[in-house]
Amino acid sequence: MTIAVTAASGQLGAAIARALVALDSGAPVIGLARSPEKAAGLGIEIRPGDYDDPDQLRASLDGVDRLLLVSGMAAPDVRIGQHRNVINAAREAGVKKIVYTSVQGAESGTSFSPIIQSNRQTEADIRESGLDWAVGRNGIYIEPDVDYLESYKKLGAIMNSAGTGRCGYTSRPELGIAYAHMLTEAKHDGQTYLLHGEPLTQTELVGYLNRTFGTDLTYRAMAQDAFLGFEISELGEFLGTVIAGIYQGIHDGALDQPSDFEAAAGRPHQSWDDYFSALA
Ligand SMILES: NC(=O)c1ccc[n+]([C@@H]2O[C@H](COP(=O)([O-])OP(=O)(O)OC[C@H]3O[C@@H](n4cnc5c(N)ncnc54)[C@H](OP(=O)(O)O)[C@@H]3O)[C@@H](O)[C@H]2O)c1
Repeated sequence: MTIAVTAASGQLGAAIARALVALDSGAPVIGLARSPEKAAGLGIEIRPGDYDDPDQLRASLDGVDRLLLVSGMAAPDVRIGQHRNVINAAREAGVKKIVYTSVQGAESGTSFSPIIQSNRQTEADIRESGLDWAVGRNGIYIEPDVDYLESYKKLGAIMNSAGTGRCGYTSRPELGIAYAHMLTEAKHDGQTYLLHGEPLTQTELVGYLNRTFGTDLTYRAMAQDAFLGFEISELGEFLGTVIAGIYQGIHDGALDQPSDFEAAAGRPHQSWDDYFSALA
């Protein structure tokens, strides 16, 4: 049984590939990557895997039994087609099972909702593919809030529109472990899991950052319109709109859901005390 992971040049794909190798199930692990040179450090076989190139995908999936599809980064309508290229290539190559990394968030009413809808369309495409399948809906990565610490220090605060809303954060290594189990164990077939740890408010997140890094940040809630304008000025139209939509979803409770992480990974999600202690 050979397992392949797409977007192995990216942080999530690499984390899943590493977790599969560490799980040591006996199955060879192959990485697919649009930029194979960026995945060379994983120490596994890497094959070309551009979501825009159906023939290349079909050839690279030769001999693969199980496939992990990492959701793409393109605009929603483009993304659906890219994912269909991967699903079709998998079916043609004789792949038996496909596992997809989807996302949580408000399905309507925010500027992030078109991306959520595109992920839901791929979930439906996978359910209807005729292959065995499993889907994980990822919580929000916590790593960017650690990576942005210097920016937060300049502002003296984390500022966004989440207000008192709770957010089900996760980390890429934790997701990697959940997906390694979902790929190698048949009991997850036909399941759609919400994958995140204990939901946190922004004030709780600031508390963790302050205790871990000795900072003195505060949390400042912004109105949605003001935050949208701020993010677009910082990140540009596409990304700024997406990020503002994510925080609107957090504000509205869309990211405050019960977690299925333990059912997927066979153990509870890492606690935030343990996650931040390891960074200190
Ligand atoms: N849950 C969250 O908080 C959250 C946040 C951000 C994104 N996401 C989603 O999670 C996914 C993975 O996140 P990440 O942290 O691994 O992002 P990342 O480190 O930026 O990696 C993105 C990966 O997508 C690959 N990719 C983009 N377009 C592709 C294409 N046309 N064909 C093949 N590969 C393509 C990139 O390949 P190259 O190396 O060639 O560029 C890279 O490997 C993202 O793509 C996005 O859908 C989730």
